[in-house]
Amino acid sequence: MTQQNEIHIPNPQAGVAFIDGRYMPVAEATVPILDRGFVRSDATYDVAHVWKGRFFRLDDHIERFFASMRGLRMSLPYTYEQIAEILIECVRLSGLRDSYVQMTCTRGLPPVGSRDPRLCTQRFYAFATPFVWIANDEQRRDGIPMVVSSVHRIAPQAVDPRIKNFHWLDLTMGIFEAYDRDAIVAVLRDGDGNITEGAGFNVFVVKDNVLYTPDSGVFEGMTRRTVIELCEQLQLRCDVRPVAITELLGADEIFMTSTAGGIMPVTTIDGTAVASGKPGPVTRRLHDLYWQRQEDGWLGTEVSYRD
Ligand SMILES: Cc1ncc(COP(=O)(O)O)c(C=O)c1O
Repeated sequence: MTQQNEIHIPNPQAGVAFIDGRYMPVAEATVPILDRGFVRSDATYDVAHVWKGRFFRLDDHIERFFASMRGLRMSLPYTYEQIAEILIECVRLSGLRDSYVQMTCTRGLPPVGSRDPRLCTQRFYAFATPFVWIANDEQRRDGIPMVVSSVHRIAPQAVDPRIKNFHWLDLTMGIFEAYDRDAIVAVLRDGDGNITEGAGFNVFVVKDNVLYTPDSGVFEGMTRRTVIELCEQLQLRCDVRPVAITELLGADEIFMTSTAGGIMPVTTIDGTAVASGKPGPVTRRLHDLYWQRQEDGWLGTEVSYRD
């Protein structure tokens, strides 16, 4: 059902999508204009990555995707195993060894004239494209300038940020503000003087060898989860609790975490250097271990490519 071994996809390395039971070039993949996912941001999604031919934490991503769908009262006619099969097939057909792999469930189309979400049939879209980096090589090596955005993260009481969603306008306005203020990324504040997260990443602060990351108002990122686990393995203390904006200014190190780039050092906040202004030792240690573990196959799922 999910395999189309014989199909020819032109320029597969640009990306392969799966829609309505068919694999196709990502450039040809389209969404019906009346899908509520498009007209109302009524969708959830998850993003996994493939590194050197292996998915990282594929099962955990699919499990989180199903939890998100349950949270939004959505369902699909696919099992966990079938979704895994589809995602692996997108990557296999693309031939990409390093890939960004998205699975999306939209509310779908309501019957003509209706706006009752209970009557919609959900739709599933997936694609594999070349790996996406939030920051380029130089920024990841030397450090990333960050601002604390004046924009507030949407309140968790309004939209649960633990369910990965398309409500990105606060995050996108944060990106504009970052560029306006000569930075690359913005972390958004909450209403209580704490930081939350930014467009596609979580934030960690290191002070006196202890790590801190916000406990609420954020998406519980897979890379964040991985860092918390690596800290346990390294016997580093990591506290998940509110992190005040003022703590950023006195931090020894700050880093961001994302599937789209792993562990990335932040070296200025609002134009002021974080400690020495260089990526710190805890960040470097976690960064190296994160990539090394993946190369060793930790929590990996191998893709069997055609060639
Ligand atoms: C709002 C937000 N926060 C954090 C993250 C990081 O999550 P992960 O490590 O699973 O990529 C993402 C990922 O896209 C995100 O969209």
